[in-house]
Amino acid sequence: MKLAIIGANGQLGSDLVKVFGEDAIPLTRRDMDVTDATSVKILNELKPEVIINTAAYVRVDDAEVEVEKAFQVNAIGALNIAKVCNEINAVNVYISTDYVFDGAKGEPYEEDDVPNPINVYGLSKYAGEILTRNYSEKYYMIRVASLYGKAGARGKGGNFVDSVIQKARAGEELKVVDDQFMCPTYTKDVAVMLKRFLDLDIKPKFGVYHIVNEGYCNWYAFTREIFNVLGWDAKIQIAPIRSSELKMLARKPVFSALTNKKLDDLGLRMRDWKGALKDHLMEEKMGR
Ligand SMILES: NC(=O)c1ccc[n+]([C@@H]2O[C@H](COP(=O)([O-])OP(=O)(O)OC[C@H]3O[C@@H](n4cnc5c(N)ncnc54)[C@H](OP(=O)(O)O)[C@@H]3O)[C@@H](O)[C@H]2O)c1
Repeated sequence: MKLAIIGANGQLGSDLVKVFGEDAIPLTRRDMDVTDATSVKILNELKPEVIINTAAYVRVDDAEVEVEKAFQVNAIGALNIAKVCNEINAVNVYISTDYVFDGAKGEPYEEDDVPNPINVYGLSKYAGEILTRNYSEKYYMIRVASLYGKAGARGKGGNFVDSVIQKARAGEELKVVDDQFMCPTYTKDVAVMLKRFLDLDIKPKFGVYHIVNEGYCNWYAFTREIFNVLGWDAKIQIAPIRSSELKMLARKPVFSALTNKKLDDLGLRMRDWKGALKDHLMEEKMGR
């Protein structure tokens, strides 16, 4: 199956390229800009059967002031890709986020729960979801969450795991919020699962699916687990703080955990977040 991966040098994109191997046509922003309807025409020539669009404006706080930029990539970009997919009869796979939810449910969100974004990033991704759904003839919308992986998020200059390790190594004081709950998710696991999902003999119905590591925690507990795996737990002081103390630009959902209900229904099971984190940290240590 010929498959184009947009955002191929990104955190998730680079793992997708590895996992799909020879089937993957990796596309970076140098090859095409999703916000430019002319440049995406390269896909008409490549004619992949599936297009995975990981391209995104991912800086949640900056999006509050760079509203247009966020919407251009996350929403208009999604529209441009949806149109090209239709022209070449490709399946459109749009990567979305747990931040489409407001967090008020207080328990893990299922695919059919109604989004209600509370920040510009979430709203721009939700606009991307709606455009994907309403313009694509064939689409999967894959919501992921709190990603970490070998490459680190390009848009953010790294990921949470890298950042806490760097701060700890530099002897910086660590203050981490304990009032926001989410599903820490390993990009390699998402990539492997997305391949299994797309390779299923009986093709899943088009629509929304969640792919996150199982279970959830708050960012403070996540940090503790990072140090626990690294064997640093006793040595490093981490202070739990409330989100309000950080005075960030964007509001964040207090509870954005997701369930993989529709994956489970297909007999596909993600592993739990602690096992995935351990694997990631061990791989990093081994320099793989
Ligand atoms: N990171 C998270 O915690 C998180 C959580 C939930 C959902 N997600 C979603 O997961 C997906 C992947 O995120 P990630 O962590 O892998 O982020 P990332 O590393 O920043 O990857 C985003 C990719 O998009 C590319 N890109 C940005 N603007 C583009 C444009 N106009 N045209 C073409 N390519 C463009 C970037 O390329 P350049 O850097 O070269 O511009 C980069 O390769 C995104 O859809 C994001 O919304 C991420």
